[in-house]
Amino acid sequence: MGVLPLADGPVLRDLADARGITYGTAVTASKLTGTYGELAGAQFGSVTPGNEMKWASVEPTRGSYSWSGADRVVDFAAAHGQKVRGHTLVWHSQLPSWLTGGSFPPGELRTLMTDHIAVEAGRYKGRVDHWDVVNEPMNEDGSLRRSLWYEQLGESYLADAFRAARAADPDAKLYVNDYNTDGLGAKSDGLYNLVKRLLAQGVPIDGVGFQAHLIVGQVPSTLEANLKRFADLGVDVAITELDIRMALPATDAKLAQQKSDFTKVTTACLAVARCVGVTVWGFTDSDSWIPSTFPGQGAATPYDENFVPKPAHTGIAEALGWTGGGDPPPGSSCSVTYTVQNEWGNGFTAALTVRNTGTVPLDGWTATWSYGAGQQVTQAWNATVTQAATRVTAVNLAYNGTIPAGGSVNFGLNGSRSGTNPPPTGLLCTTGS
Ligand code: G3I
Repeated sequence: MGVLPLADGPVLRDLADARGITYGTAVTASKLTGTYGELAGAQFGSVTPGNEMKWASVEPTRGSYSWSGADRVVDFAAAHGQKVRGHTLVWHSQLPSWLTGGSFPPGELRTLMTDHIAVEAGRYKGRVDHWDVVNEPMNEDGSLRRSLWYEQLGESYLADAFRAARAADPDAKLYVNDYNTDGLGAKSDGLYNLVKRLLAQGVPIDGVGFQAHLIVGQVPSTLEANLKRFADLGVDVAITELDIRMALPATDAKLAQQKSDFTKVTTACLAVARCVGVTVWGFTDSDSWIPSTFPGQGAATPYDENFVPKPAHTGIAEALGWTGGGDPPPGSSCSVTYTVQNEWGNGFTAALTVRNTGTVPLDGWTATWSYGAGQQVTQAWNATVTQAATRVTAVNLAYNGTIPAGGSVNFGLNGSRSGTNPPPTGLLCTTGS
């Protein structure tokens, strides 16, 4: 496992970059190795910790913090040149029992909230690009949820939370995030009016996140119009927790419908200028909350449980402009090898070979990989090589983009290093210009 799905096919993060948006995924910190880590690093431009930044995870006992999971995700993102969506500072759920079980007077509760924000957002200052400052503040009827925060502090808890987050990390984009607010309706009307009120009070709110936990065949037809009306308030918008569940077992027909649904959501974001991106809530069916919460349902993400991309993955890629072919690209595939040829004090030379392993001529190729020990490309030949943090992308030049079936092309590079020079991870070849 691992070789097949990484060997070829579209790379969502690159396609999304080219369209000016970010395609991200929620991740589980403890799984970020092996194929899971390689795919998370190679395919996605941002990561959101699925649970590791929630209050119960970071401060299970009052005053005693546990940052290891959250740190792991933030470090992973830095190592792979990815953004981080911080999730989440103020929510009614996954709170530690010392907080839900304590009976704090309102003044103390407000200070607990703003201190928590100062500590957590302060710790990751400059390393988290977006914060879900307040998560799920709405009821289904569009009124404010009677959470611990609202019950004790009233609506002002939202303004205080955003102000505390801005003070803790002035450069992070601050979001309110909710579910069942994806299309037009009572709940999204309530959220819209809330955001409008907050903006009118000068509350530092930069964006609205739409979770988009959807059901196959039921993408709201008003999704784009809804994103647009929020954007017209002068805030960014993002799809933050996309998954599209179905009754199991998955069939070809359901997977085809799901492909069209993922395409629709991605297209809606692309159609709204202030939509900054889409995040899937887990990229593989083996790491999705759906089966445990909705028994009998699942298959909600773009990769199956064995990390094989599903039609949904192709649908996202096509929405992002991928024209590399069908599902998988017919007869078109490539592989790439990487060999260190020479090493000296603080440098090295590597030789790479791209091979056409398909049955049709290759028209354009891209090789990508990640360095794990701080290596930095300093010079390259026979390819255009760029590096963002640890992630390297090599694209063919005009004269060596076409490779006959069975043929190969060589390119090379010089790099700097400050110690050991382990081979790169996530070495991947994709076809198409
Ligand atoms: O870590 C423990 C493990 O030690 C234990 O053996 C196991 C037994 O149940 O539970 C594990 O914790 C679970 C945790 O996920 C980590 O897997 C919790 O029970 C489970 O409740 C928790 O679920 C998370 C859920 O939020 C909680 O509400 C999901 O993973 C997470 O994907 C989900 O994410 C939320 C977003 O934050 C907000 N929007 C909705 C979304 C889906 O519910």
